[in-house]
Amino acid sequence: MARTMFNIHLLTIIFDLCVLSFTVSAAKNVVLMFGDDAGIQLGAYNNPVCKTPHLDNLASRGVTFKYGYTSVSSCSPSRSALLTGLPQHQNGIYGLASGQFHFSSFDNVISLPKILSKNQIRTGIIGKYHVQPESVYTFDFMQTDATHDGNSIGRNITLMNEYFEQFISTNDSRPFFLYMAFHDTHRCNVPDVYGEFCEKFGDPSKSNGTIPDWIPDYYDPMNVALETYIPDNSIARQDLANLYTVTGRLDQGVGLFMRTLEKYNLLDDTLIIYTSDNGIPFPGAKTNLYDHGMIEPFIVSSPDSKQNWGKTSNALASTTDIVPTILDWFDVQYPNWTLFKTQVKLTGQSLLPALSNVDATGFDHVFASHNLHEVTMYYPMRVIRTKDIRLIHNLNYFAPYPMALDIFDSPTFRKLLNDTQTGQPTEWIKSLKDYYYRSEFEMFNVTSDPNELVNLAYNPKYFSIFSDLKARLNAWQNETNDIWRCEPRGVLVTDGTCVSADNIFDN
Ligand SMILES: *[C@@H]1O[C@H](CO)[C@@H](O)[C@H](O)[C@H]1NC(C)=O
Ligand SMILES: *[C@@H]1O[C@H](CO)[C@@H](O)[C@H](O)[C@H]1NC(C)=O
Ligand SMILES: *[C@@H]1O[C@H](CO)[C@@H](O)[C@H](O)[C@H]1NC(C)=O
Ligand SMILES: *[C@@H]1O[C@H](CO)[C@@H](O)[C@H](O)[C@H]1NC(C)=O
Ligand SMILES: *[C@@H]1O[C@H](CO)[C@@H](O)[C@H](O)[C@H]1NC(C)=O
Ligand SMILES: *[C@@H]1O[C@H](CO)[C@@H](O)[C@H](O)[C@H]1NC(C)=O
Ligand SMILES: *[C@@H]1O[C@H](CO)[C@@H](O)[C@H](O)[C@H]1NC(C)=O
Repeated sequence: MARTMFNIHLLTIIFDLCVLSFTVSAAKNVVLMFGDDAGIQLGAYNNPVCKTPHLDNLASRGVTFKYGYTSVSSCSPSRSALLTGLPQHQNGIYGLASGQFHFSSFDNVISLPKILSKNQIRTGIIGKYHVQPESVYTFDFMQTDATHDGNSIGRNITLMNEYFEQFISTNDSRPFFLYMAFHDTHRCNVPDVYGEFCEKFGDPSKSNGTIPDWIPDYYDPMNVALETYIPDNSIARQDLANLYTVTGRLDQGVGLFMRTLEKYNLLDDTLIIYTSDNGIPFPGAKTNLYDHGMIEPFIVSSPDSKQNWGKTSNALASTTDIVPTILDWFDVQYPNWTLFKTQVKLTGQSLLPALSNVDATGFDHVFASHNLHEVTMYYPMRVIRTKDIRLIHNLNYFAPYPMALDIFDSPTFRKLLNDTQTGQPTEWIKSLKDYYYRSEFEMFNVTSDPNELVNLAYNPKYFSIFSDLKARLNAWQNETNDIWRCEPRGVLVTDGTCVSADNIFDN
């Protein structure tokens, strides 16, 4: 009798274990929510004005990375790096994919959705696409467009949520990876119709059509929490107030998707990530690899790390860490493959250890790499950022820094330009001349000098830090098979060595 009881207990325990392991491994999904030019104007990042209750709620059920960075502050290159784990110079999208810019990854690049598909994981994208070729960036479910008109999928949160529900309500039992790519908070291509940030799109009192789930918040320009690198004048303040309004639209979208996940009982099986592609569209930020250009909102919510929910991490995280994180989450191996006869290795790392232990070590630097934005904007930069120090190598420092059209055309920049041309005080952190003309190397202590105004690269006191970071940066260029690795003072020749032209520069 006793023995039978024991066996029944044992069976119950075995049964419980099976159920337990079944629920843990059955449906481990990923939802990656991605902003467009979105910044850290969030409650979760201590912005006291911009109302973002849904992202703040996500932060309260996840870990907020205070030092989360993009690997390149430009749309298509950033999205390609996000979806391949490879920097732009390695995957081949050197600039924007759209229109005449026409940049594209190499045809044989293996992207995250391809790897996941091979491993019986369903993939989907809803919203902004902006990468090519489609044969590399293939998803099972696609509802995308690429315009910045008011009327794009990624700004209509009600429509996004309808597609979201369509994707997750199928009775396909495979785990899924869903990439929710907002068009907010990008500037608007038709500002005359919808406002600078398309903030009038879907507000029934401002234009035709509504976004049923959006309740707009408007902000008094006098009350915005002006970042120190944005000029203090009424035009820039209004520009920022409009950015807040569309940040609110994105935030309410996040709230909708969270409710939908809850409705389908998926919150306990789903890794949720929120980040963005590049800096906010203001001078000094987007397209730059200064901190204001690289910093991203970076919130990761894992049901497996509840003990750390609501905490902030000081780990340095990069958007090139997303691929290794998602592969780690699904327990999928990165494939063994070669690109230009070189074995491809991811140089990012999984962030899951930083979720289970917010004091985890080994997250002490990130890299970044930029070549172009629009096709005319050749300005390659390579960057390493440690906890205190950022080193930028400007490979085309001979030329003035090129301006992206949307920023050049923005009210904030126009005002800055007018003030400079008419000799008025600009209230900006630097002169436009210093902004356009940069040294080959720029090195800043970002902790003591957050606006990066004092270049330490040529200061003899910092020579050993400079040499060390320069060597680490060049080693990463080599590891990622960067064909710019000998620039600008040498040429990469066919046997893979650099032939230096230094003597020409120095004489
Ligand atoms: C769900 O599965 C059932 C039977 O397995 C099928 O008849 C139905 O069409 C499926 N529904 C969807 C939305 O795929
Ligand atoms: C109304 O919508 C159409 C099509 O979406 C657009 O072309 C037009 O500019 C809008 N009109 C106004 C006044 O916003
Ligand atoms: C947004 O999408 C919803 C749902 O499809 C639709 O009813 C609404 O008309 C759309 N709004 C605009 C402004 O296009
Ligand atoms: C990757 O593939 C190459 C060539 O097929 C092989 O030589 C190498 O050992 C493989 N590496 C790993 C880590 O599997
Ligand atoms: C800049 O100056 C031009 C020409 O004087 C003027 O049309 C424009 O409104 C000014 N813009 C701003 C933002 O001050
Ligand atoms: C950077 O500045 C911080 C704050 O002043 C200081 O603690 C740190 O030592 C500096 N780092 C370097 C490498 O000089
Ligand atoms: C990177 O590779 C080049 C040759 O391609 C070589 O000259 C250079 O020393 C390497 N840099 C490092 C840090 O290994």
